[in-house]
Amino acid sequence: MRFVEKLLILLSGEHETLPVAEIKAIAEGENLRIRDIRVLDQVCILTGDDGLGDAIARRAAYVKTICKYLFSCNTNLHEIYDSVKSLNFSEIFCEKSSFAVRIHRIKNYSPDISAYELQRRIGAIILEAFGKRGIMVNLRSPDVIFIGFLTAGRFVFGIVEKVIERISFKRRAPQFRPYAHPSSMNPFLSRCMVNLSRATSGDVFYDPFCGVGGFLIEAALIGCRVLGSDIDPKMVLGSRKNLEFYDLPYLDVFLCDARSFSTIGRVDAIATDPPYGAASSTKGEDPEKLTRMFLENSESVIKRGGYVVVATPHKFDIGGLLKSTNLKLLEIHSVKVHQNLTRRILVLKRD
Ligand SMILES: C[S@@+](CC[C@H](N)C(=O)[O-])C[C@H]1O[C@@H](n2cnc3c(N)ncnc32)[C@H](O)[C@@H]1O
Repeated sequence: MRFVEKLLILLSGEHETLPVAEIKAIAEGENLRIRDIRVLDQVCILTGDDGLGDAIARRAAYVKTICKYLFSCNTNLHEIYDSVKSLNFSEIFCEKSSFAVRIHRIKNYSPDISAYELQRRIGAIILEAFGKRGIMVNLRSPDVIFIGFLTAGRFVFGIVEKVIERISFKRRAPQFRPYAHPSSMNPFLSRCMVNLSRATSGDVFYDPFCGVGGFLIEAALIGCRVLGSDIDPKMVLGSRKNLEFYDLPYLDVFLCDARSFSTIGRVDAIATDPPYGAASSTKGEDPEKLTRMFLENSESVIKRGGYVVVATPHKFDIGGLLKSTNLKLLEIHSVKVHQNLTRRILVLKRD
């Protein structure tokens, strides 16, 4: 039997649907079961197989903090204080000697509750319950950080386990790579799309419109064996240079038209961002037709049960793109780029 862990996760809040979809995809890719998930505004509580927290921390783009879940209750002060009093502090403070309490208000929830006052009062309750046994408050480097979130009508409380180093994503932004191109997607969305493809360490991941390698970098960082191709030789060179800059191994990056890549053999996962005919060229092809032809072609290389994740502009007719394929549409996520362009991220699965 597998052990179970109960987690409290602070999502980045950058998008409505992608963070939770990403968590579910990571679990599926890593073959870890989520038994129960409850989504509140920017916070989610989930019960799943042991190892889920580590996998999310290692891979997710849209997660900020991972905590051990302690309790959730209404945003009523008496209820909050009673719930804190009933915690098993002997277990929590086993071999630990200091703590801090932090309260994080999501958006403007519970404006009538002072986060500072709540923090102070919960700290006092903990000291009262356990302070005599040598536990003290340490705001600078506590052994245990209790964290409470005021979110949509609920107060959720836990212990911080991992704060995600989101700065490393920012450092991989297109402008910091040796070979930059304006069409390259930011590393957060690129990583999220790789995650949505259920790719996992050791899998063959393929991007047939690889540009300067944004997806390949993110897939290689989670341990995939990456394959990329592009119709433009400068992009092929750019991808290779960028992967080498980060010291990342790759199976191959080669010149190929995405309308005809059927000879590469089977791959485990595909995530890609075909050109929309604006920032990157389609070499004269109608962008919608190009995406449709790629999708039809992708069926010949993606393994059975494998995922194809593709970004398209909102104006594309999704039914038309998929009509001649057996790919099943599982998810659609809309991501606004600017006033005239919203991307749609399609998550497709081959049966
Ligand atoms: C939006 S960019 C991809 C950006 C990429 N995700 C990155 O991070 O750099 C689209 C790429 O598709 C390539 N492309 C255009 N038509 C193609 C075709 N028929 N087959 C393969 N690649 C093509 C372009 O050269 C361009 O590099």
